Amino acid sequence: MKRSWLLLRFLPISGLVALLSGCGVKGVSALIPMGKEAREQAWLMYLSLGIMVIVILVVASIYFYVLIRFHKRKGQEDYIPKQTEGNKILEIVWTVIPILLLCIIAVPTVKQTFAQSDTDVPKSQKKDVLQVDVTAHQFWWDFKYPDQKIETAQDVVVPVGKTVIFKITSADVVHSFWVPALGGKIDANPGQTTKLKLTPENEGVYRGRCAELCGSSHALMYFNVKVVSQSEFDQWVDGMKKGPEAPATASAQEGQELFKQNCMSCHAVGKEGGPVAPNLTDFADRKMIAGTLDHNKENLIKWITNPDAVKPGANMPARGMNKNLTDEQIQKIADYLFTLSVK
Ligand code: CUA
Repeated sequence: MKRSWLLLRFLPISGLVALLSGCGVKGVSALIPMGKEAREQAWLMYLSLGIMVIVILVVASIYFYVLIRFHKRKGQEDYIPKQTEGNKILEIVWTVIPILLLCIIAVPTVKQTFAQSDTDVPKSQKKDVLQVDVTAHQFWWDFKYPDQKIETAQDVVVPVGKTVIFKITSADVVHSFWVPALGGKIDANPGQTTKLKLTPENEGVYRGRCAELCGSSHALMYFNVKVVSQSEFDQWVDGMKKGPEAPATASAQEGQELFKQNCMSCHAVGKEGGPVAPNLTDFADRKMIAGTLDHNKENLIKWITNPDAVKPGANMPARGMNKNLTDEQIQKIADYLFTLSVK
């Protein structure tokens, strides 16, 4: 009985520890910043946290000192301490200190907020900035590079050290664009463009996600930001412009034909195909299937066969546009899609 009591008391604490340990995962956490804006935002969080900790320590120390020093002792049952009403100096002190502490937090916070939301790039600096046009859909992300004239989806590739201006909108409902490790976030509104400035400082893959409840698969609306060196980025842009090489195996070639007949009215590869579903030009180089499953053929087949089981509410029809692809045909399409690499 006693033991279960102990367990019950420690359960919330261990739950909290488990929960908080999730806050420190590299690549997904705002507490391990990987970009300039995220670093500045984390610094502001730590500043506020530091001041709060100091206040708590001082208040708690005084509280416990008074509790121990002045508690009623034996023989003092009828004793009433000196009653003080109003103390000008004390009142000034405990009004001025919070004002000062709030100023210490407010000044850098307001400065950062204005600096980070300034996304207007002077013409002379246009060269140093990359623009990416983002369109959020239920439940995936489209990325267009207007200056490079290329388009991709789900995994957005950017060069390290360069400021990226994301121009964000939505094709349907309100979504929210958020890459915790790089800083953020901002709403994606239909019929409106919002802007977010991010400057990644470390190469790597950073998880992004939708942060606004937008439907049944909101929780699965992930994307990745791949931060690569400038030369790798230039290579990727060239590869995207050229498009992937033609498939070599018979199965993948048959898959390409099947893809053209059953998938291409919605999905594009290179410049060919429809714009309503994710562009698949560099599909084989991506990190996730449908933004939620591990990137392998088995999961791709699972996704094409029954999208609703993977991502409820997704607009993709099961077994292709005509809904009649056989298991064997889906296997061939998967073979083809895994040849779509621009590396
Ligand atoms: Cu899109 Cu939540």
